[in-house]
Amino acid sequence: MKKKLYIETLGCAMNVRDSEHMIAELTQKEDFTLTNSLEDADLILINTCSVREKPVHKLFSEIGYFNKKKKADAKIGVCGCTASHLGEEIIKKAPYVSFVLGARNVSKITEVIKKPKAVEVDLDYDESTYAFSDFRSSPYKAFINISIGCDKKCTFCIVPNTRGEEISIPPELIVQEAKKAAKNGAKEIFLLGQNVNNYGRRFSDKERNIDFTDLLKMVSEIEEVKRIRFTSPHPLHMDDRFLEEFANNPKICKSMHMPLQSGSTKILRAMKRGYTKEWFLDRAMKLREMVPDVHISTDIIVGFPGESEEDFAHTIDVVKEVGFEQIFSFKYSPRPLTPAKDYPNQVDDSTASKRLSYLQELHFSMLDTISQKELGKVYEVYFEELKPGGYVAGRSSNNWIVKVKGSEELLGKFVDVKITKTGRLSLEGELIA
Ligand code: SAH
Ligand code: F3S
Repeated sequence: MKKKLYIETLGCAMNVRDSEHMIAELTQKEDFTLTNSLEDADLILINTCSVREKPVHKLFSEIGYFNKKKKADAKIGVCGCTASHLGEEIIKKAPYVSFVLGARNVSKITEVIKKPKAVEVDLDYDESTYAFSDFRSSPYKAFINISIGCDKKCTFCIVPNTRGEEISIPPELIVQEAKKAAKNGAKEIFLLGQNVNNYGRRFSDKERNIDFTDLLKMVSEIEEVKRIRFTSPHPLHMDDRFLEEFANNPKICKSMHMPLQSGSTKILRAMKRGYTKEWFLDRAMKLREMVPDVHISTDIIVGFPGESEEDFAHTIDVVKEVGFEQIFSFKYSPRPLTPAKDYPNQVDDSTASKRLSYLQELHFSMLDTISQKELGKVYEVYFEELKPGGYVAGRSSNNWIVKVKGSEELLGKFVDVKITKTGRLSLEGELIA
């Protein structure tokens, strides 16, 4: 009988892809099959995130819970970014953990399951050309890594210390993977990296003269690929050539993530983001001008060390001016191995909480006006998911979640929908025959 694998994935889209890679290796090179039941599992993996402190805190109570529920001889493995930066400490604190596998060492999953107390967290390990086995959680869209690591070293961010130096994956491997996925039915390709539009920075096999805009063109030439999305781009690398390709290539979905972090140039400098408030606004406005239907999402950190009321007001200013369709907002969380944790003038928690609530409430009220504009529009929706109450949901090119009454036969299809009802985060509509 096959052994059973239970996997929990926290954090970003790259973690989701890393989990798919681990599932692929364990089900195809080893004798595992997936289960949703913790109690039945022979191997329990938790793929962790360490971007903020809270999930790291929760990790130990969670693996404690896994340990109580699991079968006597089942193994627990801790993977991902927290594994990278805590390493051996995890086994010291929770001796029932069988192995620790860092975010840059995913391909070693088949080795660590056989090595008791293995700790594989090498930050220089290069998996950029490793041929992973194939597994995808969705038949309709395919996540594809285009780079590993991040060279940016934003002063708040732990990622460069958990995922290491940035290495781009050779374009021919990306195109090959996209072709295969699209032929198997995944008409939407999601290109992933911590800083995707820095693509081409460094390859581990040979030098190439290629950037992210070139890569977008190459992937869009694959006939079976109908849609291309990507995350995360960096506002600093949004040059005109990139924005023009984004605007004019019909296969590129008209949804852009522009992580602002702060609207204050002073704070942006302290964060080492490399752009100013004016640059960000210029890029966002240019984007709105070039692509009238564009959906812009962002990440904002409030309470970064030294953030005054005036700095926060600059953030609010940008929020009002850009009118983001979606905001992921966070209270600054001091992280180990980052310069900002030692900065003077740390903002107290109650001030940060107040700013976060203010920002979230403001955006919530803005969303009513933003979504109202969608009423009556017609979008081509790619249907991906059945929803309760006889609904099917999908996304428009500009990333609105749209649901209609319908059944399985819509899944995997592109259908025109007229929007009849709006909500802050999703829309409802009717099929246009
Ligand atoms: N490469 C990605 C960032 C990954 S982290 C990008 O550029 O979008 C995802 C988000 O978490 C960041 O954009 C930031 O808004 C937030 N974040 C990162 N470190 C943080 C910290 N120390 N405290 C609070 N939020 C943080
Ligand atoms: Fe982190 Fe900045 Fe890279 S947010 S992932 S260091 S672009």
